[in-house]
Amino acid sequence: MTLLAIIIAYLLGSIPSALWIGKIFYKTDIREHGSGNLGGTNTFRTLGVKAGLLVSTMDILKGTAATLLPLIPIFADVSIHPLVLGIIAVIGHMYPLFANFRGGKAVATSAGVLLGYHWPIFVVMLVAFFIVLKWTKMVSLTSMVMAVLSLLYVTIYYLFFEKDWPLVAVIIVLAVFIVYRHRANIVRIKNGTEPKVKWI
Ligand code: G3P
Repeated sequence: MTLLAIIIAYLLGSIPSALWIGKIFYKTDIREHGSGNLGGTNTFRTLGVKAGLLVSTMDILKGTAATLLPLIPIFADVSIHPLVLGIIAVIGHMYPLFANFRGGKAVATSAGVLLGYHWPIFVVMLVAFFIVLKWTKMVSLTSMVMAVLSLLYVTIYYLFFEKDWPLVAVIIVLAVFIVYRHRANIVRIKNGTEPKVKWI
């Protein structure tokens, strides 16, 4: 059952929400627009608020669903930590089977993993996201700041509340994924060519 749970987690992450929502409802391949990224931000940019919200929500829930798989009775005794299933979903999101292994930048699905495992960090990071976005106006930079802030959160949580080392380890891994997947954005931020949002 452990292998099946791993496969399901990867397949969940592999669902290319941005690609499918774009193609099915808007007849648009968002890989040919904006940053070309299969993610919520590029969907907002290319297809508008409704599509952006739908894709972001789906990308978050993929991570949540994978992390919660052990709650399903047949997976109750899997010999794998729920957070590892979450990481596998994030890998699926970045390298999706259903989109030629060219996927998103790990942000929403990572957030979904945290929502499934330890919801307070999701709530704190969601609020912090909009505060930081108001200041930076760049979703990419804000996402990387969130990766750093989640490290800070988990350090405080570990020191003063619960010694949940798998949570610490997974947040480090997710932060590395997020920064690595934003390589092109980092170059644009340095050049001053990274797109800014105007609505906040
Ligand atoms: O979640 C992805 C976001 O941080 C950046 O997306 O399309 O601006 O590269 P994009």
